[in-house]
Amino acid sequence: TLQAVIFDLDGVITDTAEYHYQAWKAIAAELGIPFTREFNENLKGVSRIDSLKLLLSQAETPVSYSDEELHQLAERKNKLYVELIETITPADLLPGVADFVAAIRAAGLATGIASASKNAVAVLTRLGVMDRFDVIVDVTKLKNNKPDPEIFLTAAAQLGADPAACIGVEDAASGVEAIKAAGMFAVAIGRAEHFPHADIVLPSTSQLDFRELKQAFEG
Ligand code: G6P
Ligand code: MG
Repeated sequence: TLQAVIFDLDGVITDTAEYHYQAWKAIAAELGIPFTREFNENLKGVSRIDSLKLLLSQAETPVSYSDEELHQLAERKNKLYVELIETITPADLLPGVADFVAAIRAAGLATGIASASKNAVAVLTRLGVMDRFDVIVDVTKLKNNKPDPEIFLTAAAQLGADPAACIGVEDAASGVEAIKAAGMFAVAIGRAEHFPHADIVLPSTSQLDFRELKQAFEG
């Protein structure tokens, strides 16, 4: 039986996926690198430095950057991102999320956050929802990025839950791969063609329904 639901943050709890996109788009524009929303799908769930490297790989004329230059570009992107998240308030929870999390907790199940973002606690604090999650995985302590299952397995272990008794919720292809590699049931938010391996794809968080998902999980 179901024990826990583990959530990605950016693009699932709140629309910070859009702020990551805007910050990267500004960096790409400065460097004269083409950057589209479709390409941005590849950056979802990907760490800051790996996202930068993917972005740079899109340059028409490849340029090689020193580690120091890479670090400075990543810092600049983060400064832009941090400015954007300063505007977040509790009204920025995505539709349906508050009720979905409340239903999970009312059923006596555990909740966790498995986000690759070093800004996760700042975002959750601004949303006013720190107390709704039993565990927030500290990404700085992990060795492997999504699609490796480490972050979801760590969340389950910290919750004392069996991975096979967990649902993971993600908006990134790499995140869905991580959930499946962890042996969990994967719920994807977004367009079905992005998530061939998800157990369920919902077009929006407003479709998150605890009773329906519990039934689907129990098969
Ligand atoms: C999440 C987002 C990515 C972001 C990553 C690192 O996985 O989906 O877009 O690059 O976190 O975020 P950070 O706030 O540490 O730069
Ligand atoms: Mg995400």
